[in-house]
Amino acid sequence: MTMQALKGFKDILPDESPTWQWLEAAARSVFHRFGFGEIKVPILEKTELFARSIGEATDIVEKEMYTFTDRNGEQITMRPEGTASVLRAFIEHNLQARQALTRLYTIGPMFRHERPQKGRLRQFHQMSVEAIGSDHPRLDAEIIAMAWQFLEELGLSVSLQINSLGCPSCRPAYREALLAFLAARQDTMCDDCKRRSTTNPLRVLDCKSSHCQEQYQGAPVILDHLCPACADHFSAVKASLDQLAIPYGVNAFMVRGLDYYTRTTFELLTGALGAQSAVGAGGRYDGLVEQLGGPKLPGIGFAMGMERLILLLEQQNQAAIAAPAIDCFVAALGEAAVSRAFPLVHALRAQGLKAAMDLEGRSLKSQMKQADRLQARYTLILGEEELARGEALLRDMASKKQQVLAFGNDPAMIAATVMATMSTAQ
Ligand code: HAM
Repeated sequence: MTMQALKGFKDILPDESPTWQWLEAAARSVFHRFGFGEIKVPILEKTELFARSIGEATDIVEKEMYTFTDRNGEQITMRPEGTASVLRAFIEHNLQARQALTRLYTIGPMFRHERPQKGRLRQFHQMSVEAIGSDHPRLDAEIIAMAWQFLEELGLSVSLQINSLGCPSCRPAYREALLAFLAARQDTMCDDCKRRSTTNPLRVLDCKSSHCQEQYQGAPVILDHLCPACADHFSAVKASLDQLAIPYGVNAFMVRGLDYYTRTTFELLTGALGAQSAVGAGGRYDGLVEQLGGPKLPGIGFAMGMERLILLLEQQNQAAIAAPAIDCFVAALGEAAVSRAFPLVHALRAQGLKAAMDLEGRSLKSQMKQADRLQARYTLILGEEELARGEALLRDMASKKQQVLAFGNDPAMIAATVMATMSTAQ
């Protein structure tokens, strides 16, 4: 039986890699302009880290984590998201000592045991950013603006929805109001909602069942229960977004799937990916650093799903990024020529050219076909006759023009001649 990848786990093939590399480069370019530095964190962490941050009563922690006991009997988990790990590293390495506002990003695979479908995988990739050390509403707008700028540079148009989830001083009163509303609907809500209405009532509003959703029409929303400080904060975030001319809609029903959020939350949505509408999402987590044993520092961040971005780019035909073409293919005929070509290709590569040859010494016709397939800009032809005359032919594959090059003995010198000829021909 042939082996296959796990369900929900995907290989990224060489044809697809250029798009991934381009997407990462585009993200890095924007993140660096906004002052973010890259951090790489491990894929495995203690389970407790995610349970304590994302929240015990969330879908992710309750049913989606890849958790196992390692050989030392320790409970460990493959990270389902980046924020918890980045904050753990931030605290562990005392990064706040270096600057008042720490700006970090990380790019890599995340793991959630969800039901796979278009745009939803069990191993997926996020570009995740965190800014730790300020609760200023302008920072919220700046972070959202960075996500917006990135999507603009990709040429993608999505819609932005924002909400405020309040803080520990306004949420308890809201929770009471919501519980009272839900109590009257206990008999008709689904089992998940029944359970959630005691463990994590805010999440009830996010139930996917249309029957439940109908009943929750008119439910109290947190936006109507914000304390004056949170209300002012939210107004200032909106004013700052207006200042940057970033269009948004307020969605008072937006409840994020992770418990650490406070105040501003946001989602970047598209209608083009079916059920998986969020290409990116994030928000503020003002209590999280402290909750994980660090100093009392507020923070905000977001993550973009790379598979979803690539699906969108493909739909809009913007992902047609070809693998970089070969600069020079060396076609050699006969063993003597192949043996000269071998160190020459190495010398061309050492000098910075993307060069290739056929090691098997196939016919000239098949080597020229190979050069075409590799989209070689030039082919250097070493035939027996040319070799006998101490020459080689350099063929411009687009114009089909050929020129004769003197072909000496030293591969590095020949490589230099080829390169000099190629650069004057451009
Ligand atoms: P999240 O909303 O769980 O937030 O995920 C962020 C993004 O990751 C989603 O909008 C989506 O594009 C992508 N994503 C999530 N699950 C999957 C999946 N199964 N398959 C494909 N793509 C997926 C977080 O993870 C937070 N850590 C974001 C954050 C950072 N908040 C503050 N800082």
